[in-house]
Amino acid sequence: MRLDKFICDCTGLTRSQAGKVIRQKLVTLNGELVKQAALQVKDSDVVCLDGEQLQLIGLRYFMLHKPDGYICSTEDPDHPTVFTLMDEPLIERLHTVGRLDLDTTGLVLITDDGQWSHRISSPKHHVAKTYRVWTADPIPQSAIAQFAEGVMLRNEKNATLPAELEIISDNEALLTIHEGRYHQVKRMFAAIGNKVERLHREKIGGLQLPDDLAEGEYRELSAEQLLLLKG
Ligand code: URA
Repeated sequence: MRLDKFICDCTGLTRSQAGKVIRQKLVTLNGELVKQAALQVKDSDVVCLDGEQLQLIGLRYFMLHKPDGYICSTEDPDHPTVFTLMDEPLIERLHTVGRLDLDTTGLVLITDDGQWSHRISSPKHHVAKTYRVWTADPIPQSAIAQFAEGVMLRNEKNATLPAELEIISDNEALLTIHEGRYHQVKRMFAAIGNKVERLHREKIGGLQLPDDLAEGEYRELSAEQLLLLKG
């Protein structure tokens, strides 16, 4: 890989900024000052910028326990984003896999691997997502069949895909859906005349939000956990 590209990948600098730090004599290759941006860097080479060794960052995969009041986007004028809960280099390269509403809590996946996030969130792959739902009114048994058949959401042409509802108590249930339409869970309950008061995502694919991951915390996904997300 070219030296200037290597510097960009490690630091987030642009090509022209990388060229500039090279011209400013801030870059060494195996201890020698280098001046050519086009030099080829090998895996075994040690590149330092201003005395600090640069390291390539591979693709990263995290799960985060989103608290209420945080937003799943990179910037927002009114609310803190989930990225403010993270301490990672090159954080601007990360994105959430799909989004939870501001007031929804629970499992969020975060990565810089666009292909991976596309596969998990794409409607084609039907990766299951399970939500714990608390409602304003009691949930009738008939809702199980309604959600299994699919309901029409306001302003949409197609009914929802079959979804599994497990009623836990009068006003609490687990709902598993296999697509990700806008505000889907809230709109599904609205379609049967109820209102979601609180929503918490517990599971994506085979990956459950761990009990020991407190609200606001995050951790890297292990190789085993990544396998649980294969659609
Ligand atoms: N469905 C919703 O209505 N809101 C969410 O945050 C996620 C799913």
